[in-house]
Amino acid sequence: MKSLASDNTSGIHPEILAAITAANFEHQGAYGNDEYTQKAIQLFKKNFGQHAEVFFAFNGTGANVLSLAAATQSYGAVICANTSHINVDESTAPEKFTGCRLVSIDTPNGKLTTAQIAEKIKGLGVEHHPQPQVISITQSTEYGTVYSVEEIKAISALAKQHGLYLHIDGARISNAAVSLQKDFAAFTTEAGVDIVSFGGTKNGLLCGEAIVFLNPALAKNFKYIRKQGMQLFSKMRFIAVQFIAFLEGDLWYRNAQHANTMAQKLAATLRQYPQVQLTQEVQANGVFAILPPTWIPLLQEEIYFYVWNDTLSEVRFVCSFDTTDEDIAKIAQKLAKLTESK
Ligand SMILES: Cc1ncc(COP(=O)(O)O)c(C=O)c1O
Repeated sequence: MKSLASDNTSGIHPEILAAITAANFEHQGAYGNDEYTQKAIQLFKKNFGQHAEVFFAFNGTGANVLSLAAATQSYGAVICANTSHINVDESTAPEKFTGCRLVSIDTPNGKLTTAQIAEKIKGLGVEHHPQPQVISITQSTEYGTVYSVEEIKAISALAKQHGLYLHIDGARISNAAVSLQKDFAAFTTEAGVDIVSFGGTKNGLLCGEAIVFLNPALAKNFKYIRKQGMQLFSKMRFIAVQFIAFLEGDLWYRNAQHANTMAQKLAATLRQYPQVQLTQEVQANGVFAILPPTWIPLLQEEIYFYVWNDTLSEVRFVCSFDTTDEDIAKIAQKLAKLTESK
C-alpha cells in the first residue's frame, strides 16, 4: 500500500538502483579509496564551492550529530528549534556525542528568527553557563516551510557576530532548493553557512547523506570523528555512486520538484473543504492540516499518513518522488464521499 506518512516510506529511485547495480561488477578500494567517492566529492565541490570538504554517512542522524560534534566542545550549547529533528527525533545522540546542551526554541512554523536566537545567546564567556557554539536550522523545516536566502544570511550574520557556527540540517535540502528556485550554494555557501548535513535518502537514495563543510577548518579532524561515530562505510562506493547519479544530472531536482508539486496538489485538494484547516504554508513536500477527528481513520484506510498532534487533530502528509496523481485522487475521492454523506 502506498503511503504519505513520510518520504522515507518510498523506495529507491530506479536510476539510483541502476547506478548501484552498475558499480557492482568490479572491486574498488574500501573506506572511500575508490574512484566513485572521488568523483562524488568533486560533484559536491561543484555545487558548494571548491573549498568544501565532503564526507559521506549512512543516515541523517549520523550526519547531524557528527556535524555538531565537529563544531562544539562538551561545555557548549546548540541552539535549535523545538521541532528540529536533533531535538525531537535523535534520542539523546546529539547530547551523547557532543556533550552539549540543546537549547530549543518554540516556533510556530519550524523556523527560527534572529530575535529568538539572539535571546538565547547569553552567558558567553561565563564559565557557569553552557557556551552557545552552534545554531542549527533545518532547510526545508520539519513543518515543510522554507527559509529564504535573506533569513539564512541574517542568522549567519548573527552567528558570526557572536563567534557561533551555523549548521543546516538538509535532510530535505533538495526540496528547499526547488522551492526557492536557487542552487544549493545560494542559500548555504553564499549565505555564510558553516556545515550542511546534505540529505539524499528522502529524495530517492537507498541510503546516503553527506556532511559538507563550507568552513574547511571544521573538517580538520573530522575523519577521526566520523570513524569514532561509526559512520565510516567500508564499501563507500555504494553511497558515492548514488550521489553521482543524483547530482551529475538533474535527478535531485526532478525528484524534489515532483514531491513539492504533489504537495501543492494535495494542499489544493484539502483547501476545497472548509472542515479542513491547513496549519502551515506548503513550501516544500510536507502538508500539515487539522481534520475532523472522525475523518482521520477513514482517510488512512485509503492512504496512510501520520497524526502529528492528537490534541489538535493535526495530521502530516509527506509527498515523495513517487507520489502519484492517483494517490492524491484517493484522498480527493474519500473527502468527496465523507462530505456527501453529511
Ligand atoms: C529533518 C530531518 N533531519 C534528519 C533526518 C534523518 O534521519 P535518519 O537518521 O532517520 O536518516 C530526518 C528523517 O526523518 C529528518 O526529517
